[in-house]
Amino acid sequence: MSEAILTHNGREYRLPVATGSEGEQGIDITALRKQSGAITLDPGYVNTGACKSAITFLDGEKGILRYRGYPIEELAERSTFLEVAYLLIYGELPTAVELDAWTDSIRHHSMVHEKMRRFYDALPKEAHPMAVCSAALGALSTFYQDSLDPRDPQQVMVSIHRLLAKMPTIAAYSYKTSIGQPRLYPKNHLDYASGYLRMMFGTPCEEYEVDPVVAKALDTLWILHADHEQNCSTSTVRLVGSSLANLFVSVSAGICALWGPLHGGANQKVIEMLQRIADGGDTGKQFLERVKRQEEGVRLMGFGHRVYKNFDPRAKIIKKACFNVLEQLHVQSRLLDVAVELEEQALADDYFVERKLYPNVDFYSGIIYQAIGIPVNMFTVMFAIGRLPGWIAQWVELQGDPNFKIGRPRQIYTGATERHYVGVEERG
Ligand code: CMC
Repeated sequence: MSEAILTHNGREYRLPVATGSEGEQGIDITALRKQSGAITLDPGYVNTGACKSAITFLDGEKGILRYRGYPIEELAERSTFLEVAYLLIYGELPTAVELDAWTDSIRHHSMVHEKMRRFYDALPKEAHPMAVCSAALGALSTFYQDSLDPRDPQQVMVSIHRLLAKMPTIAAYSYKTSIGQPRLYPKNHLDYASGYLRMMFGTPCEEYEVDPVVAKALDTLWILHADHEQNCSTSTVRLVGSSLANLFVSVSAGICALWGPLHGGANQKVIEMLQRIADGGDTGKQFLERVKRQEEGVRLMGFGHRVYKNFDPRAKIIKKACFNVLEQLHVQSRLLDVAVELEEQALADDYFVERKLYPNVDFYSGIIYQAIGIPVNMFTVMFAIGRLPGWIAQWVELQGDPNFKIGRPRQIYTGATERHYVGVEERG
C-alpha cells in the first residue's frame, strides 16, 4: 500500500493512500487528528473524499460518467429509468424476471394515502413545488412508521419501493395544487414517465393521451440525472442518513439541497436567463460582459461544474436530444436559438476557456422541459424525480458501509476568545 508523508510541527506522519478501481487516489487522514492534533481544512469539500462508493464513477477531465460501470451514453440510449434505478440501487442490471417484478411493484405502490391528498390543501397556492415535495416526503414518513428502521433490510426495501412509486404522484400533486386543478389518482397500467405526465396534464373531464415522444424524452432526462456521486444534495442525503434518520426524511432534505440555483435550481434559472435575452433585456454579448464583470448575482447559468472541467457528458446527450425532441414535436424554440448562440460565444471567450467553463446538464434540459409542456417552476422537481434512485442507492450504501460513522465535520474556530458576560446596563 502506498503512503503519503506529511510534516507538521517538526514531526512526520505517514498516511495511507487509498486507491479506487479507476486509479483515483485518496490520502487517508482518518487517524490524523488523533496522531497530530491537527485537522484538514477544505471549504466546499473540494478535495475531500467523504466515503468510498461503488455506485457512480466520473472523470471530470475526460468527461466520463458511468453508473455501476455502464457508460451513461449506453444507458441513455438503451435502458429505461426504472431499469437504471434498479441498477443503481442493487448494483447489477436486472434479469427480465427481476425487471418485471420491480416495475410491477413500483407501478402498484403509486397511490398515496388519502389523507396525504388533503395535506396539499393546507399549503398556499403559490408554494414552490420543491418546498411542497420536500414537506410531502416528511409527511409521508408519518404514514409508514412500521417501516422506517434504516437497519432493517426488509423495511428499507419496502420504503424504497414506496418512495420511487409515489414520487411522481407527489410531484404531480404539487403542480395540480398550484393551478387549482383536481389531483388525479395514478393509473397503474402506465409506465413511469407516462403515468407522471397523465397526472400532470390530465383532468377528470377527459382521457389524456400520452405522447410517446414526450414520455421517452422525460425518461431519458431522468436517466441522465439519476446519480452523480457526492454532489451537494446526495451528500446531504448521506449526512442526514448518517444520523440514522429514515430514508423518507433523508431524501426530503436532499430535495431542499437540490432546490438551490447553484445545484438543481439552475435549470429554472437557465430558462429565465434565456428568456430575458430573447425578450431583448440584454443581447447575448451584453449578458456575457456582465457575467465577466462578475456583477453581483450574475452568472452564466447552466455553465460550469465543480467536477467537469472539459465537458459534461450529460450536456452532450441532452443537447442532441433537445434538437431531436423539438424536431419530432415540430416545436420552434427561440430559446434554443439563443442558447446555441450563447454557448458558441461563451466557448470562444477567454474568460470561460481559462476557467474551463462548459455547458452542464442544465443548459439544455430546460428547453426540452419547456417543449414538452413542463412549467418552469417544475423543472427542478423533474431533476428531483430523476435523482431519486441515486439518493436511495447512496443512502443504502452508507447504511451498509463497514466504516459507517455519523457525519460530523470539524472547523477552525475564528471567533472571539473567552470573554465574560456584561449586564445590559453596563454595555457601552
Ligand atoms: N458563470 C460565470 N462564471 C463562472 C461560472 C458561471 N456559470 N461558474 C464558475 N464561474 C467562475 C467563477 O466566478 C470563478 O471565477 P474567479 O476564479 O475569477 O473567481 C471560477 O469560475 C471558479 O468558479 P467557482 O464558483 O469557484 O467554481 P465551483 O466549482 O465552486 O462552482 C458551480 C461550480 C456549478 C457552482 C458554478 O460553475 C456555477 O455557479 N454554475 C452556474 C450554476 C449552474 O449551472 N449549476 C448547475 C451545476 S450542474 C447540475 C448539478 O449537478 O447541480
